[in-house]
Amino acid sequence: MTTRAWTDRPLEGRRVVLGVTGSIACYKGVDVASKLTQAGALVDVVLTMSAQQFVTPLSFRGLTGRPVFTNMYDPQSPLAEEHVMLARAADALLIAPASATTIARMAQGMADDMVALTYLATTAPVLVAPAMDGQMWAHDAVQANVATVRERGVTIVGPAEGRLASGHMGLGRLVETETLLGAVRAAIGAKGDYAGKRVVVSAGGTQEPIDPVRYIGNRSSGKMGVAIAEAARDRGARVTLVCGPIALATPYGVDRIDVKTTADMAEAVRIAVEGADALSMAAAPADFRSAAAADQKIKRTGVSLAVELVPNPDIIASVSGAFVKVGFAAETQHLREHAAAKIAAKGLDLIVANDVTAPATGFAHDTNQVILIGADGTSEELPLMSKYVVAHRILDRVAAMLEQRR
Ligand code: CTP
Repeated sequence: MTTRAWTDRPLEGRRVVLGVTGSIACYKGVDVASKLTQAGALVDVVLTMSAQQFVTPLSFRGLTGRPVFTNMYDPQSPLAEEHVMLARAADALLIAPASATTIARMAQGMADDMVALTYLATTAPVLVAPAMDGQMWAHDAVQANVATVRERGVTIVGPAEGRLASGHMGLGRLVETETLLGAVRAAIGAKGDYAGKRVVVSAGGTQEPIDPVRYIGNRSSGKMGVAIAEAARDRGARVTLVCGPIALATPYGVDRIDVKTTADMAEAVRIAVEGADALSMAAAPADFRSAAAADQKIKRTGVSLAVELVPNPDIIASVSGAFVKVGFAAETQHLREHAAAKIAAKGLDLIVANDVTAPATGFAHDTNQVILIGADGTSEELPLMSKYVVAHRILDRVAAMLEQRR
């Protein structure tokens, strides 16, 4: 399999047909078109007649820089047989928002508008993001249609719960744009070089309680681990993300296991790596825990307090198996030496070393500058780049190791 050079635009050169159908959530479809375009996709928007009651083709045209398709009988159309041409060229068809009527058309195999036609004519993955009133969504007829299209391989994304246009709370909101982008990336990436592979990633710092309200923690934001989870998902991997308390959303399609302490993380990782192809330990597990965490809040007395710390287990050193083991070394000095020592001490195949004192690298940044050092002594110094692209460079190395082991 040829590896592609990943950039910060994960959908670079991919063709996405965005079907927009009649719903008050149409205005969000405009944002979806914009974000897909920013992610590098060539976005062909198809609007139903009802959608045009809510939004105009011009908004989509302006954001995607491409013709918008609205009329299947248009003699001036840039494409001779629009629905077939669009459907054949697509890497994915996303229908967002999808109305109850459009889902019914799909279930029935109707071909009386451009969105329904494109659905029938494509072999690309199809994603449907419903948006409607909660009562409508709950109706047996809608649920039966949803079940039918799902059985035929369509991925239903959402709907989300929250405030609906009627003012009522309920299930029926279009999911967030970020979720839709994740779903499209996952669908397009499903046949990537990690298809059929399972990757375990840890992220964030762990917290060791001192008493019920205080803990020992560290500055890890979880961004590097989440970037690896996203990147692996974009290449077709099944991903398990084991994380300490972090303030980041779970990437679409990734299984997340939340933990607090290093002991919890050790247990979760031990279970998750069974049968996995790779473990990427981007987390910063606390190395020490309180010897005896207090049951009640420790009161201020004005005198100093000593907390006895005992060592925690080294998670990555304690797991072994056929999977590729990737460790991280966040150092403040003697980067290469310390990182190389960790390869031997922890039985790693690869270590990702970074100097956390350098500008724009390490904790909480979106960028990182790392050296990839292999157990075979090879090292690769990467320039400052986004954590997402760093993640792909790590995955490139892991993919090569997996290939060698076959
Ligand atoms: N690690 C781990 N379990 C721990 C501590 C660290 O699995 N209890 C993993 C980290 O996730 C990382 C690698 O080991 O992938 C190196 O972490 P680091 O904190 O740099 O190493 P330590 O062994 O803790 O060494 P030191 O803190 O002394 O530099």
